[in-house]
Amino acid sequence: MKDKIRQLSEEIEQLMAESHEHVEELRIRFLSKKGLIPSLFSDFRNVAPEQRKEIGQALNTLKQKAGEKINELKSQLDLGGASESSDTDMSRPAEEISIGSRHPISLVRNRIISIFQNIGFNVSDGPEMEDDWHNFSALNFPPEHPARDMQDTFFIEKGKDHKDQVALRTHTSSVQVRVMETTEPPIRTLSPGRVFRNEAISARSHCIFHQVEGLYVDKGVSFADLKQTLYYFATEMFGEETRIRFRPSYFPFTEPSAEMDISCILCKGKGCNVCKYTGWLEIMGCGMVDPAVLKNCGIDPEVYSGFAFGMGIERVAMMQYAVRDIRYFFENDQRFLKQFTPAL
Ligand code: PHE
Repeated sequence: MKDKIRQLSEEIEQLMAESHEHVEELRIRFLSKKGLIPSLFSDFRNVAPEQRKEIGQALNTLKQKAGEKINELKSQLDLGGASESSDTDMSRPAEEISIGSRHPISLVRNRIISIFQNIGFNVSDGPEMEDDWHNFSALNFPPEHPARDMQDTFFIEKGKDHKDQVALRTHTSSVQVRVMETTEPPIRTLSPGRVFRNEAISARSHCIFHQVEGLYVDKGVSFADLKQTLYYFATEMFGEETRIRFRPSYFPFTEPSAEMDISCILCKGKGCNVCKYTGWLEIMGCGMVDPAVLKNCGIDPEVYSGFAFGMGIERVAMMQYAVRDIRYFFENDQRFLKQFTPAL
């Protein structure tokens, strides 16, 4: 008798049901008048008097357990709504699926790309983890040269020699090296992408940001071509009345080098707090590709010349959308992202 009770108890613990009909079958099997448990109660008569107390208790526990299990199975079916008799309304309209919007960084990047595509630039891509050659050495940054400090770097592998170093790229000029190494001029290419610098995060700078850099190499390319191309870009991007100016600057890979400013898009050059009352906004670095860089990439500087430029997409987006803090671009806060055009 004891064994029988234990066996039924184990069986009840394992019970599962697929439908309310199935639960009812189980109830009949275990608990109905002629079911397994009541028939044990009938056999109870034959139990020896000294065992009655123990077995009586075990029988009552078993009956209770079976009742609870049956109720549990019933309520599981009600909750899951899996039963055929459930009253779920299958014709109810579905929840609305909300459509996201393009990220402002993508909007600005796509706009820059399409402006340059109109004058024959293609788009090139490269790895975010770069070796020393493509990020620095080919671009005329000698090892130990202080110019490397302009771009604080996240190193992946330090290596014995600078040649073995692997780092997160600090600019997409590395992609232009790769293009020059593998393509015969004329080259007109645009390299958009994510770049990394070991900088403290603040409202104005971030350790991750995005750039679009451009490169034009052909016979007889001059600074006049650079000026006209970037003037075309500025007026397409910021409006016809935009003016540009160049200030001398320094980059190891361009000679001469310049910073290009545009007339402030808010006050049109009159002076306001965005342009700090100068009337101008700094927008990109540029210059004529240093002949040593062309040579490093297998292009004869006696035959070819070129210009290059590079801008930060966040900086342009901050100007265009009057965003005060660069960190908004990385926080994925829907209240911010929803303010931009839906992705359709
Ligand atoms: N690579 C430079 C930077 O990241 C930008 C630049 C590109 C400047 C091409 C001049 C010419 O700061």
